Amino acid sequence: MIETSPLLSDSYFSRLKALVIEVTGMAFYADKDNDLALIVADRMTECGVKDCALYLERLQADSGEMEALVAELTIGETYFFRHMEQFQALRQVVLPDILERNAETRRLRIWSAGCATGPEPYTLAILLKREFGARIDGWHVSILGTDINQKFLTRAREGRYDHWAFRATPEEIRQQCFEAVGKQWQIKAEYKSLVSFQYHNLTQNRFPSIVDNIAGFDIIICRNVVIYFSPETVADLVPRFHDTLVEGGWLVMGHAEPSMDLFRQFRTVTFPGAVLFQRQDGLQVVPTPRPAVPFPPLTVPSRPKPMPRTPPAVRPAFVPASVAPAVDPPLEQLRALADQGRWDEALAACDQLLKREALDWRVHYLRALILDQVGDAEGCESGLRRAIYLERRAVMAHYHLGLFLQRKDEAEGARRSFRNVLTLLADKPEDTIVDEGETLTAGQLRETVGMHMKLLGASQA
Ligand SMILES: C[S@@+](CC[C@H](N)C(=O)[O-])C[C@H]1O[C@@H](n2cnc3c(N)ncnc32)[C@H](O)[C@@H]1O
Repeated sequence: MIETSPLLSDSYFSRLKALVIEVTGMAFYADKDNDLALIVADRMTECGVKDCALYLERLQADSGEMEALVAELTIGETYFFRHMEQFQALRQVVLPDILERNAETRRLRIWSAGCATGPEPYTLAILLKREFGARIDGWHVSILGTDINQKFLTRAREGRYDHWAFRATPEEIRQQCFEAVGKQWQIKAEYKSLVSFQYHNLTQNRFPSIVDNIAGFDIIICRNVVIYFSPETVADLVPRFHDTLVEGGWLVMGHAEPSMDLFRQFRTVTFPGAVLFQRQDGLQVVPTPRPAVPFPPLTVPSRPKPMPRTPPAVRPAFVPASVAPAVDPPLEQLRALADQGRWDEALAACDQLLKREALDWRVHYLRALILDQVGDAEGCESGLRRAIYLERRAVMAHYHLGLFLQRKDEAEGARRSFRNVLTLLADKPEDTIVDEGETLTAGQLRETVGMHMKLLGASQA
């Protein structure tokens, strides 16, 4: 018999439910009161809180408790090579298309949004290395996995899995790409090194945003995530995914989700067992149905023909500040170019601005973030340090320097940068926006920095 939670008769339960749905976007719980109440009741017992009103207060005051609740509410079902037909479509058509298009820049950026414990982004790393290793040698490849659940992200970073995560993986791939550690399997460093993970809430964090590292992707893969969201939330997300792709970039959603009508902005391409969406600015292209021939097995190397290329849409180039209209402030224009992943134009805009305002820390800061995206680590680090030198209180520059040093395994420097962030935020109330034009609050940044410091094994004191 299914247990009925006593919380259902608590008059504050509905407010609590509304808060949970607002924070996570998980409208899935709208008609699952009992499931939600059982999860909440466990957290309340853990915190020693007796009723929903007190627990609501606790959630609002303590972001750590919200994090713990979110960890229990989210559903992290995932495994390697889930829905193989989509990976076959990526391998046969999408990746060759992108590799050809990016041959000059030698860069590739992929975002796995709602990556849970990591099999999805790691599958992409395996696919890339095994199938296109020689072609991407010397490229700047980055695969970013994001999720709202910090516990999942910690496990994703570890990269160690039980046999159940391999239920759709060819045995040969498991043997070659993983090492046995006790009863588990650890992903090998050569694949792991392509992937990084970060916290990101799809329904609360604004994107595209270079400052959040969410901009200019060649592929976005977001599967089995929006099924939990309301149709309104999904209708809001799809155009934002569109804007977060570069021109010609591809969006991969879970099969059978959501309504095709939402993808009008995209070119729809049908593959055997999969439908993918390509960003095609300003062009009306008739959808190309793919022939329904089965793909050869993944482990057999093949040289598929790239899809015919569509000429790039004409887009306005960066207008130098001197001729830009007064209503279009250059820094905002620069930020917009960076958010759209138009790296080369954004860098040209930075150089233009720095000719006039060599000491503007914001330009150095944005330039450093762009250089990070294009794989210029040295330029990124010196740009961030220069921004901080010019403005010691540039909290986001300290934060990004911390992230940068953490990635370089310079733990001591990273801790120092994160401590600087906490010091600068010390007297800021939770809801204060940390930087002009951003949506990040002091509370959110403190929480994120706290998480990174935990990972670095540092005390926040
Ligand atoms: C079922 S898993 C899908 C994992 C993977 N994409 C796959 O298909 O195998 C759904 C993931 O979405 C995440 N999620 C739910 N709400 C989210 C939100 N608002 N922002 C980001 N991730 C979210 C959950 O934490 C969970 O890890």
